[in-house]
Amino acid sequence: MPKLGVNIDHVATLRQARGERYPDPVEAARICESAGADSIVCHLREDRRHIQDPDVAALRKTVATRLNLELSLAKSILDIACRIKPDEATIVPERRQELTTEGGLDVLKYFSKTCRAVEQLSTAGIDVSLFVDPQRNQILAARQSGVSIIELHTGKYATARSRSIRQRELSKLKEAARYAQSIGLTVAAGHGLTYTNTLPIARIPGMKELNIGHSIISQAVFTGLKKAVRDMRTLARGLAL
Ligand code: PXP
Repeated sequence: MPKLGVNIDHVATLRQARGERYPDPVEAARICESAGADSIVCHLREDRRHIQDPDVAALRKTVATRLNLELSLAKSILDIACRIKPDEATIVPERRQELTTEGGLDVLKYFSKTCRAVEQLSTAGIDVSLFVDPQRNQILAARQSGVSIIELHTGKYATARSRSIRQRELSKLKEAARYAQSIGLTVAAGHGLTYTNTLPIARIPGMKELNIGHSIISQAVFTGLKKAVRDMRTLARGLAL
């Protein structure tokens, strides 16, 4: 059954919106773990829009499950990751103007840079994952870069405007997961997953982990964080609510 990684970036988004000290992402991580989160995910962006450097350092000290740090290929961020040593690092593409991560990493285009980053992080003892679109050539390049984990980008599936497009995107994800596993990769997925679209992704054969943030933090406004995480954990396990 897939595990649930809870992305707490948007607790920090709320804090940064007012330049306050609350809500504290470290406290959020503690609550998520007590509600059954299997890992805590955060993204240290180059523009420091939400999570800040001291958050990552504090999370490293307090997270009892696994800390998965999302990061770009920027040297300064890679160096921070190697110093802080999260359990896992997920390399994602990053653009200043984007509202959120818009697509998978173009591993083919940035192959040498990706290989160097994977090598640097692995040498520091960090498990490395690449966030990729559900495309064979990107998945094969990810394997060749030396990682053993990929996270499939579910954004197109999540934002599909019609049932038929959603079905097509789901088929691509299933095929990508099957192919990735056939070449020895562990498969996770995430981006845009909600309380209404997570189940089909959780039920993809061999799916190991779902990383979900925005919908959980949003739901927490109405139900509290504990229930929001518990309910999503049930869905991530492939069980209906
Ligand atoms: N996985 C990755 C690699 C991401 O970049 C993000 C967004 O930070 C997520 C999962 C979570 O996406 P969402 O907030 O839409 O659930």
